Amino acid sequence: MTILSSEIRTKYLEFFKTKSHAIIPSAPLVPENDPSVLFNTAGMQPLVPYLLGEPHPMGKRIVDVQKCVRTGDIDDVGDNRHLTFFEMLGNWSLGDYFKKESITWSHEFLTSPEWLGIDQNMLTVTVFEGNSDAPRDEESAEIWRSLGMPNDRISYLPAVDNWWAAGPTGPCGPDTEIFYYVGNGVPHGNCATNPDDWMEIWNNVFMQFDRQADGSLQPLPSQCVDTGMGLERVTATLNGFKHVFDTDIFVPYLAKIRELAREKYDDRGARIIADHIRTAVHMISDGVVPKNVAQGYILRRLIRRAIREFARMGVTGVVLGELAKMVIETFAPVYPSVSTHREKILEEIQREEEKFGKTLADGTREFEKIVRGMKEAELKTGQSITRISGQKAFTLFDTYGFPVEMTEEIAKEHGLTIDRAGFEEKFKAHQELSRTASAGMFKGGLADQSDKTTALHSACHLMLAGLRQVLGTHVAQAGSNITEERLRFDFTHPEKMTPEQITAVENFVNEAIQSSLTVTVVEESKSGAQTRGVSGSFWEKYPDTVKVYKMVGGNGKVYSEELCGGPHVENSLKMGTFKISKEESSSSGVRRIKAVLQ
Ligand code: ALA
Repeated sequence: MTILSSEIRTKYLEFFKTKSHAIIPSAPLVPENDPSVLFNTAGMQPLVPYLLGEPHPMGKRIVDVQKCVRTGDIDDVGDNRHLTFFEMLGNWSLGDYFKKESITWSHEFLTSPEWLGIDQNMLTVTVFEGNSDAPRDEESAEIWRSLGMPNDRISYLPAVDNWWAAGPTGPCGPDTEIFYYVGNGVPHGNCATNPDDWMEIWNNVFMQFDRQADGSLQPLPSQCVDTGMGLERVTATLNGFKHVFDTDIFVPYLAKIRELAREKYDDRGARIIADHIRTAVHMISDGVVPKNVAQGYILRRLIRRAIREFARMGVTGVVLGELAKMVIETFAPVYPSVSTHREKILEEIQREEEKFGKTLADGTREFEKIVRGMKEAELKTGQSITRISGQKAFTLFDTYGFPVEMTEEIAKEHGLTIDRAGFEEKFKAHQELSRTASAGMFKGGLADQSDKTTALHSACHLMLAGLRQVLGTHVAQAGSNITEERLRFDFTHPEKMTPEQITAVENFVNEAIQSSLTVTVVEESKSGAQTRGVSGSFWEKYPDTVKVYKMVGGNGKVYSEELCGGPHVENSLKMGTFKISKEESSSSGVRRIKAVLQ
């Protein structure tokens, strides 16, 4: 029998709908209210507040397919089972049904000919053997027995197998897990006697406790059920495949990669690319962009690793977009955000491909040079040298854009390691430097304090006021850099300015300049200035008493009031005429203006 992943997904949702569950959409990959994790790693994560007692707007019975990313195993992707992105099918009781219904419905969905129709002989289950936290789960075992599960297919296992929690604190409880036979011949044994022959397909957790920071357990306000079934794994298992990469989920990508790489096609590389591109598309559709920190760093690592794997197969240039389009088409009916953000997804991937495509070959040569240097040093000293220095790994990162994990991987391919602690040290020193640079920027971003620079600085204040008047008060300063020749100013605004808007801002500034503006500075309390609506960025970096620069025209009109450290012109008449020479995108949601005083 062949069963497609999409069919399993749909059937699952439909089945639980018949059991009065409300179907809810997947939450975005990046947790909305939990800064402690980078991505949702299980279906229950976005539902934690409801497991803890908050009423869910859709009721007490919920079913969904949740997009998940687990980053712990990135390095293992490429073997036949690890994935970074996966979909988790889950049904929840939020203080409604408990063990009996949960187990009975899982059994019905899996074995009923109306649903998946699996032969029960292909299944075995585990239950919690008990400890000081909770008793041996005879109740679940008894429910399984009543459904025809033979005694020798029910294993009692310890907490390490049958107790589930998303983290060290929070909702948790004993679980019962369902396994499918993947061994040879007639199904035999169980999870205790033949663990390698059985593949876990579904986990039903009986959430009863809230683990406190001191390790103690508090009962949840009401008993809940949290279940999770990995779509990729269940698709493979039900189709009799040992590997997720043999399923309809991955075969099209692997075929496309084979078409591109031809005789240089490599299984491991192709799996890495197929996995990473799926993850990258979903991350970007949920608002992540490639960066050197947090979620953006993981995304960058994945895209760059995929680019390198392609390059190893001799495929260079802009190719990932082809695969990204396939991911978008596949998932558009399930997760509309991939369609909504189609252009952005393709743009970000292409940008990263172009950027890294340029440095990958040079970086690879640099790496080879490093290895040659080590060999020569070995010959000279007669000592074996196998560790690449932190400085060298940092150069590969800083100059060639090699994520350190990639350097580590390449090193491993050469039988080498890298000095990771040394790298982290260099990296931290670099961060300090860039922090100092941005702190310098916040002081005004002035290259010097000459008359011309000072005049442009005053023009900057007027321009910000003009931008806020013409475009709206969402405009805030995002950075500035001023030299004698020009000002460069970054500000938040979602779209390109029209020529009319540019002229309106220029007019605003020039009117102010011509009105024989005077600049005065007053000291006042930070909170007072903030409440009055004085413009300013980086408020948190200022002391409690701040300097506010006020620019008042000869006509009495207040053109600008802004938090600042100076210096400014005393009178505007000598400033000249203000002109915007360029308006362009700086980064997502941030525009950049270059302007001069003539
Ligand atoms: N939360 C459980 C899991 O992820 C169902 O396995």
